[in-house]
Amino acid sequence: MKILHISDLHFPTLLNPFTLRRKSLVGYANFYLRRRKKHLQHKILVETIRNLNYDALIISGDITNVSHPKEFEIAKEILSPILDERTFMIPGNHDRYTKKSITEDYFEKSFSEYLGVKIEIDVQNPMEAHEARITEPELEKRGSLTESFDFNRASLYLRMKTIASMKFIGWDSNLLLPAMNAQGLLHPLVAQKTLDIMSQSKEGEYMLVCHHPIWNPKDRQESNHHKMRNRDSIIQILKSNPPVAYFHGHLHTNWVKTPDENVPFYVINSASSTRISDSHHKSGFHFFNRDNKNTWNTERYIFNSHNQKFELSNSIIYS
Ligand SMILES: [Fe+2]
Ligand SMILES: [Fe+2]
Repeated sequence: MKILHISDLHFPTLLNPFTLRRKSLVGYANFYLRRRKKHLQHKILVETIRNLNYDALIISGDITNVSHPKEFEIAKEILSPILDERTFMIPGNHDRYTKKSITEDYFEKSFSEYLGVKIEIDVQNPMEAHEARITEPELEKRGSLTESFDFNRASLYLRMKTIASMKFIGWDSNLLLPAMNAQGLLHPLVAQKTLDIMSQSKEGEYMLVCHHPIWNPKDRQESNHHKMRNRDSIIQILKSNPPVAYFHGHLHTNWVKTPDENVPFYVINSASSTRISDSHHKSGFHFFNRDNKNTWNTERYIFNSHNQKFELSNSIIYS
């Protein structure tokens, strides 16, 4: 089996700043001034992928910058040559940037065919949980979550798709927060439901896809304003039936972590697949392959700006 993983495409879309409200304006200015020219090779990326052989394609969020409808429209147009029955997508925090993008399901409406089947989670009052997530004046004022996590603000998104006899599970770790705050939170019921589904699944093995890292290398730790706050407890929940691999993005530099007793699954970060590398951002994308001896291995492709091509390179592996 060959799984191709790309992430954090952040397609550069020009928007009229006068049509943007406060948070989007800050986010758009940040994108326009700091990052616009660093995400250039999207057409080359799509063309490269079109010519590769793979069984499944994972896109782990941050397709847009400020969740503007025009960004979703353009992203879909750019990605259309590689969107098919092998594609599995989840949203990133930039695809859940505004209240409207959440209440009106911009991401779901744009990419419904590629998100898998929606799994319902029983909570006493799901609407209450949804509303609490998107209307929290205290939170907006404070700019941060309290130390004791309030899971009413976390999404109950859980989706599943079987591709080439492998189960792919999609999570949404994103929260509606003020600009420049990109922390995540995963509802524990989502992790628990994932295990319930997998305990009854004939496939047995599964791949998890979520935008926020569940682990970072020591030299690339994240601040509280960037990380998934309850990731350690999610690892503990997963330990009873871990995925083969956890695919994510969010922090824009590649890595692969091999399983160990603390984190008993591969962790693969392919962000950002459209960014030009520099000393702090090792960009590219990964293949995650199972060979005929049933062993998993990774291959990494990086963009060579001299010949404008993606080329096979060394993976950045932590074991
Ligand atoms: Fe990103
Ligand atoms: Fe992100």
